[in-house]
Amino acid sequence: NRLKEEIEDFDITDAQSLEAFRLEYLSRNGKVQDMFKLMGSVPKDQKAAVGKLMNDVKVLAQERFNREKEKLERAQTKQFGPKDDITIPVEPTYTGSYHPLTIALNEIKQIFLRLGFNIADGPELEDDFHNFTALNFPPDHPARDMQDTFFIRRNDTGSKDDLVLRTHTSPVQIRLMKEKNPPIRSIMPGRVFRNEAVTAKSYFQFNQVEGLYVDRSVTMGELIETLVMFARLMYGSDVKYRVRPSFFPFTEPSIEMDIWWNNENGGQWLEILGAGMVDPNVFDAVGVDSEAYTGFAFGMGVDRIAMLRYGIDDIRLLYDNDIRFLNQFKL
Ligand code: PHE
Repeated sequence: NRLKEEIEDFDITDAQSLEAFRLEYLSRNGKVQDMFKLMGSVPKDQKAAVGKLMNDVKVLAQERFNREKEKLERAQTKQFGPKDDITIPVEPTYTGSYHPLTIALNEIKQIFLRLGFNIADGPELEDDFHNFTALNFPPDHPARDMQDTFFIRRNDTGSKDDLVLRTHTSPVQIRLMKEKNPPIRSIMPGRVFRNEAVTAKSYFQFNQVEGLYVDRSVTMGELIETLVMFARLMYGSDVKYRVRPSFFPFTEPSIEMDIWWNNENGGQWLEILGAGMVDPNVFDAVGVDSEAYTGFAFGMGVDRIAMLRYGIDDIRLLYDNDIRFLNQFKL
């Protein structure tokens, strides 16, 4: 009992006295252990009772120690006094940062939201019908070649039975038009996959933003005006651009847009997107009346935009998730 009182009264005010308490009572040569050594001289019939008492003392000491230790730790973390200068900046902690692809995508979204588009999405695992057939790809189109497309299941070319990792975001157009009637004015951001050799310039996955506008009497003029507006908002009002004829199975006529990119060697034209008027065959595949409606579509690469913006010369950096790279995009 004397030892109990001693343990309860021991003065613990700081880390030092806590350690003194530990040495005094709980260490191997402390008083609690010494007490247990007396067990040998206790008469047999009292051993059980005395042992229990001794154990109570041990528990008491251990509990006091734990309690005081916790108290000290808590006091250490927050305790402002009049002498503390609370205007001193705190140590900076790691807060994370937006990925450059997210930053670029957010800007693209903002621009098209301003232009009256909403946002839609679709699955990354697609079937051949949505990814190719409904988009007017003929059965023997080279894009279906194993070299370009990751086939997940191949039973019956061109049907919904064949599964692919989508090679572009255009299949989301098909899903949208099947789901709802025009007018439709949406962008569809998403990840796409192509079975390509991994190099600084190409990767097996990247990101696109698809656009689709379907209504009565949508014109090519509106398409080009929309794309020019996008280029100005994205790259500045003095951006130099050009529009060239091109070909896609799902648009007719088709175009591509380039912007002039200044670099050390003067500069060069860079393709930023493909676009065109929705092909009537696509409308037929989804049951939109191609006599009553017209539409335009476009598709752009997000990775390219982010790489140009930040001078990133290797696409693989976007997917390595190296913290030294990501840290450079703190806002
Ligand atoms: N899907 C095309 C591609 O991946 C881009 C595109 C979209 C072209 C819509 C025209 C219309 O290259």
